[in-house]
Amino acid sequence: MEKIREILSDNFIGKEVSIRGWVYRIRSSGKITFIVLRDSTEIIQCVASSENLNEAEMKDLSSLTVESSLEVSGKIRKEPRAVTGYELSISACKIYERNENFPITRDLGEEFLLDNRHLWLRSREFTAVLKIRSTVFKAFTDYFYGEEYYQVQAPMFVSTATEGGSSLFNVDYFGEKVNLTQSSQFYLETMIFSLEKVFTIAPSFRAEKSRTRRHLTEYWHAEGEAAWYSNEDMMEDEEKMIKFIIDEVLKNNLEDLKLINRDIGKLTNIKVPFQRIKYRDLINKSNEFGMNLKYGDDLGADEEYGIMVHFDNPIFVTDYPDALKTFYHRPDPDSPGELLCHDLLAPEGYGEILGGGERIYDLNEMLERIKKNGLNPEDYYWYVDLRRYGSIPHSGFGLGLDRLVMWICGLSNIRETIPYPRTIRRVKP
Ligand code: 4AD
Repeated sequence: MEKIREILSDNFIGKEVSIRGWVYRIRSSGKITFIVLRDSTEIIQCVASSENLNEAEMKDLSSLTVESSLEVSGKIRKEPRAVTGYELSISACKIYERNENFPITRDLGEEFLLDNRHLWLRSREFTAVLKIRSTVFKAFTDYFYGEEYYQVQAPMFVSTATEGGSSLFNVDYFGEKVNLTQSSQFYLETMIFSLEKVFTIAPSFRAEKSRTRRHLTEYWHAEGEAAWYSNEDMMEDEEKMIKFIIDEVLKNNLEDLKLINRDIGKLTNIKVPFQRIKYRDLINKSNEFGMNLKYGDDLGADEEYGIMVHFDNPIFVTDYPDALKTFYHRPDPDSPGELLCHDLLAPEGYGEILGGGERIYDLNEMLERIKKNGLNPEDYYWYVDLRRYGSIPHSGFGLGLDRLVMWICGLSNIRETIPYPRTIRRVKP
């Protein structure tokens, strides 16, 4: 049994092959039926004619519908008029399942397509995105193994908040109220005391009320944490990681990028190091772009879009004011009121894909910050303990993998990056 991509080659001309897959398109004119068959790799035109097949076989094939499943055998020939340049003349076939009426057709509404996601995700464009996504996940892991990080796992049922209480999902856990995790960061921090450098890929859950094109309620979070690292050290690993992922996608998924009409030059032009801009300087710069922002304003999807449409390369925004970030960020001793942290904003208007920085490692400073944020230090006893027993400077980050895929693929909504998007209004299928 061959895969379609491998037989689309002059080496197979005149050879007998067998392939299996699904009907992508079908057109019949009595004596001859053209079936474009797809498998996970490609599509190919197959032709059924009465020269090679008996009447019953011809009837069976000509009455197939889109997404019916079958296996065909036959010889390959070059055919410039065929969709991928070659054609298979069917000499034998086996039909696995004959469709009644595949519900996905052209020009259907968005809600219908979301309700039928389990069928719609067979589309060629979505398949290409999923292949790119697969490379992104693998490349992230490969990069950090290469840098001698260990892969670890953290729990999803948790009793603390990392990113503020307003976006927590509560779960009834045998009568006790617990949360779904917003981030594995605190657990990663516990593990650097034995492993020094760790990473994980896991879902994070946010009860985000904001209905933007870049928010999911369940998203894939790639997080890293490294002992002895400064804010700058962390940014250096991150920019190399992003560049590595993009290069891997360019190496493995060029055809997929073309299929979804991605402007590939935008990716090949990405250069490291990424520019570092302090939050205060970015605010000033944004006003050069005609925006009306002032120091202390939070940067949401719209503001970041307004800024990042002017950039072709990602930028690190550093030194955010204290009030804009959560309690664990380390204040900059040289710049009161500002934090040793960073966000990575993607170009072409995409905005934030990653957030990170140094963590507070002084016990009293941590206790103070927890209290100042209205939290109970007892709930965080294990996190606070890390500042009690062998505390060290360290840094970490969290990267939204769905947002990274969205930018790399040039998509306009995060829903298009993930097989089953979970949003404020959708938990099915
Ligand atoms: O900026 P966030 O909230 O940071 C944290 O959770 C840290 N604890 C991470 C860490 O330092 N270990 O989230 C990190 C990233 C964001 O930059 C964004 O890319 C993504 O997670 N993200 C979301 N992606 C999709 N949907 C949402 N609702 C997201 N919220 C955050």
